[in-house]
Amino acid sequence: MYRRLKRYVDTIRETTDFVPRAAIVLGSGLGGYGERIQVEEEIPYSRLEGFPVSTVAGHQGRFLFGRVKGVPVVLMQGRVHYYEGYDMQEVVLPIRLMGMLGARTLLLTNAAGGINLDFEPGDLMMITDQISSFVPSPLRGTNIEELGTRFPDMSQVYDRALMEKLREAARRERVSLREGVYAQLSGPNYETPAEIRMLRALGADAVGMSTACEATAARHMGMEICGVSCITNMAAGILDRLLDHQEVQETADRVKDQFERLVTSFIGS
Ligand code: 6GU
Repeated sequence: MYRRLKRYVDTIRETTDFVPRAAIVLGSGLGGYGERIQVEEEIPYSRLEGFPVSTVAGHQGRFLFGRVKGVPVVLMQGRVHYYEGYDMQEVVLPIRLMGMLGARTLLLTNAAGGINLDFEPGDLMMITDQISSFVPSPLRGTNIEELGTRFPDMSQVYDRALMEKLREAARRERVSLREGVYAQLSGPNYETPAEIRMLRALGADAVGMSTACEATAARHMGMEICGVSCITNMAAGILDRLLDHQEVQETADRVKDQFERLVTSFIGS
């Protein structure tokens, strides 16, 4: 796996010597942020042989290298999910690659279902901690010593200084920012009302099908992580209605302006 990662680094280095300071992963419906950055280079995943590509409509597949308020960033437009059938090692491969390209900070974003009864669709939630115990660890198998240690600490997955920077960015932009624990489940089906009650009892505030595994892999390699969930809908059993993927897209679209201002202000600070 490490040799494969190094090959991808070499392939990218044939095109660009751009060294990103921060890496940003854009979640469902939030990919439009690519238009907000000053792009210097674009690398479609298809240029990287054997690279995992998303099978979901609305997920593009490319790295954008560029600047946000002068800060060099790499943007992942489109991620792959465990539910698509990829192993966790494949799911987190792009995260590791961005780390190897030089990114020290990782901003993870996603669309998530609200579990906390105080939340409403359209809320943005800073991720303060995570529950990843319902999906396999991306670190299972032979440890990649070049990246990190066998038994990495997960006491502070989300960096405290970055959390404070994100709160400050939200205040500057007058964007309301909730905070809470994100739980990753495998999907692709949404949860049942009983599962949502279980997750609430376990301390989860939001639920989704990504992000936590990526944070685990990034923490393993010592990256500093920050996360934002867009609460696109309430999880099952909270409102007396059914869930559908279209609502996820529509809500993400409705709050994308707030989301984009928050991210730009955060990265620029
Ligand atoms: Cl309700 N569940 C999961 N697993 N992912 C979601 C969601 C719910 N809403 C948006 N993404």
